[in-house]
Amino acid sequence: MKFSIKSGHPAKQRTACVVVGVYEHRRLSDVAQEIDDVSKGHLSFILRRGDLEGKIGQTLLLHNVRGTLADRILLVGCGHERELGETQYRKVIAKAIRTLHETGSMEAVCYLTELNVRSHDTAWRIRQAVETAHASLYEFNELKSKNTKEDMRRPLRKLVFSVASRRELRLAESACREAEKIAEGVKLAKDLGNLPSNICTPAYLVEQAKALCINHENELTCQVLDQADLEKEGMNALLAVAKGSKQPPHLIILEYWNGKKNDATFVLVGKGVTFDSGGISIKPAKDMDQMKFDMCGAAAVLGTMLAVVELELPLNVVGIIPTVENLLSSNATKPGDIVTSFSGQTIEILNTDAEGRLILCDALTYAEKQYKPEVMIDIATLTGACVVALGKHAHGLLGNHHPLTNDLLNAGKYSGDRAWKLPLWEEYQEELDSRFADVANIGGREGGTITAACFLSRFIKKCHWAHLDIAGTAWLTAKKEKGATGRPVPLLTQYLIERSKEMYNNVATPPVILSTKID
Ligand code: BES
Ligand code: MN
Ligand code: ZN
Repeated sequence: MKFSIKSGHPAKQRTACVVVGVYEHRRLSDVAQEIDDVSKGHLSFILRRGDLEGKIGQTLLLHNVRGTLADRILLVGCGHERELGETQYRKVIAKAIRTLHETGSMEAVCYLTELNVRSHDTAWRIRQAVETAHASLYEFNELKSKNTKEDMRRPLRKLVFSVASRRELRLAESACREAEKIAEGVKLAKDLGNLPSNICTPAYLVEQAKALCINHENELTCQVLDQADLEKEGMNALLAVAKGSKQPPHLIILEYWNGKKNDATFVLVGKGVTFDSGGISIKPAKDMDQMKFDMCGAAAVLGTMLAVVELELPLNVVGIIPTVENLLSSNATKPGDIVTSFSGQTIEILNTDAEGRLILCDALTYAEKQYKPEVMIDIATLTGACVVALGKHAHGLLGNHHPLTNDLLNAGKYSGDRAWKLPLWEEYQEELDSRFADVANIGGREGGTITAACFLSRFIKKCHWAHLDIAGTAWLTAKKEKGATGRPVPLLTQYLIERSKEMYNNVATPPVILSTKID
């Protein structure tokens, strides 16, 4: 699908469909009013008949409206004007896109981007519209034998979003570009997440990382440590998780050097457990299929790296993915086993299902040793406790540096990919005391998301570090929305876009224009 930006009168658009909003109760938006004027009151006449109240989710398709050049006008309900916030706006856009897709219009000019959304500007509205459009057209049918695409007679191909004045064109165009790149990253993360674990193995993630580098030659480079390398280095915590599986473990390292030599390095570390059976501490059968999503942290790192490279952000970013399969066998790690992590700390593995922190701790140590990053962020489907605490709307966020966690909270707010902070206080650390080793890999039943982060914090020496627990947000389970979400690619990319703007603030002519503002 192709997106573009335009400014112009709705009645003058020679297109298959013009999309405009109608508020509750039957109140025309400004753009709908313009069409009403040229059509001698046709829209208000239809609304008076009671065909469209203006509630969110309602639509009405009109053909051959007098005074306009478009084949159709699609009226979309926007709810009460005063109540049009972020969530409502995304719903309105999604509904419009789905309807267009189903009504046979192959192209359209959409004026919903001119609606007033509480406390947001044009750039934000364009960004969200393009991202929402991509998300609402997303499908994952690769593994169905019938080609469902052929059933679609005339899919939507080209969508033009309107801005109210020509002065806004440039800003809107860069917002559109950002949105497309973010959407590409989200799609990659969703596709990888949705693949089953018999296809998406650690070796498959390695292949995907390599493919990403081949597609971005000279910009992105990839290095992979295999089992022998990991053994040589002494990453025994990571290796302990892989022991029960025939699939060999890997540590994937992606490097993107587009900042100046002495600029900060940002490291993203993503949990890549391609299937989490729990190991010897085996999980219950119910919903165990969902544990194919336990590599969504890794998928988010790949998706974010893709967006960053495509946006050519002037930063130094490294993506690190420890990837394993957590299974059981006679060779598997057993509860009570003790290993020496890459950091030198010994770990008593009291529960083999707390495996994410084991692969992450070695990856964190490796990253800090190798890159001395200023900022390190790990992303992991780490704890069921996080799903209980925050549900599916917010990522759990913990960290050792307030400015960093604040930046991430703000990036989440702006991108609509929100996180919520939990405390990482010293007092929680004692939960991890072990009778036989330096640290245990589980705490008690209480505060599971916090004790998991406490465990990780012991492997951070001096960098600013934050941890995103995406156990509740990385995929959805309800039938109609089942599957990977691609989160937190929007949050992470937004965070890095903001860091890029800080760089640009110091140069007279920025090479790329970035659209977004955070107050
Ligand atoms: N991948 C799971 C966490 C998870 C569970 C994510 C359910 C999404 C839904 C993780 O490896 C895990 O099993 N964590 C354990 C930790 C416990 C043993 C301390 C959990 O949350 O039960
Ligand atoms: Mn587990
Ligand atoms: Zn897991």
